[in-house]
Amino acid sequence: MNWKIKALLQKVLSATKLGDNLNHIPATLNKKYNYNTTLYQTHECIRKFSYCNIDLSLKKTALEIGTGYSLISAIVLSLLGFQKIITIDITKDVRVSTYKKQKEYLDHPEILKLIYSNSIYTKIEVINRINKIKESNTLETLLKLLNIKYIAPYTFEDILKEHKQIDYISSQVVLEHITPKTLNKLFKFTKETISKGQFCVHTINFIDHFTNPGFFQDKTISEFNFLKYSNRFWRFWAGNSIAYTNRLSYIYYIELCKKYNLKVIDFIGENYKLRKELRPELIHQDILNKYDSNVNLEDLTKYQRGTLIISNI
Ligand SMILES: C[S@@+](CC[C@H](N)C(=O)[O-])C[C@H]1O[C@@H](n2cnc3c(N)ncnc32)[C@H](O)[C@@H]1O
Repeated sequence: MNWKIKALLQKVLSATKLGDNLNHIPATLNKKYNYNTTLYQTHECIRKFSYCNIDLSLKKTALEIGTGYSLISAIVLSLLGFQKIITIDITKDVRVSTYKKQKEYLDHPEILKLIYSNSIYTKIEVINRINKIKESNTLETLLKLLNIKYIAPYTFEDILKEHKQIDYISSQVVLEHITPKTLNKLFKFTKETISKGQFCVHTINFIDHFTNPGFFQDKTISEFNFLKYSNRFWRFWAGNSIAYTNRLSYIYYIELCKKYNLKVIDFIGENYKLRKELRPELIHQDILNKYDSNVNLEDLTKYQRGTLIISNI
């Protein structure tokens, strides 16, 4: 289906109060949605954590950026051994009904094994903690039990009021939804608050989200189709709260690390679906203007997704 149909629907929905929630409904209609989300969030949370050498025997605080609709990542961070977790978003999308369904899958063998084999707790201790989570039937009791602070909407000052120093910052497919201006604030905040020698791990999806799977997927375009357009054109079609993506490649995030004196430990680029190449000469000048340095055109379409591991030196 032509991407402009989905773009138009999202534009209309974004003008309504419930827009983002309505936009999210189709994904939840899959019968296995809650199991799949719990497994995916657990897997991704532990994958990112595994890139870092974090000693959780000392009391550590984690910050998750962009909670989304699920608290599973925050819960898993607690089950790994973090003493305090702050999870932030610009909108409060977590629902108790979703949490109640997803917590039932925490002791599914595949998920349980992922957790206890990476946790400071033994298998029995993890099971006991999951049992306590299962007894928590309100968000308030859960957040208190695990020392999770859910701040949505948030400001950077709100986070600092909770904790002055953060030991681990992570995000999952969030940074691509943040404007360059706010990304600058986030990386400056990171430099100021992440403890020396500690880590941040961000998984970023670089592709045109109108090529994402689903009923409205446009299968005819390149996964980097959006790089063809001017800022003005793209703002008209996708400059709303549901569709916004910043159209930045991994190069931009590496530049941010340099600018705020954060050490890039690694960048793991991936191509997870069939490539439909975009000819480099089709990339719009407005895209090139987003970068400080002369950027290599091939780099802008090199990876569909990537994980940036950084540390404070
Ligand atoms: C694609 S969702 C990912 C949610 C979740 N991390 C996941 O993996 O399901 C992107 C999330 O980023 C949030 N977001 C957008 N801009 C943000 C910002 N400036 N700070 C924090 N979160 C933001 C959105 O509200 C949304 O919940």
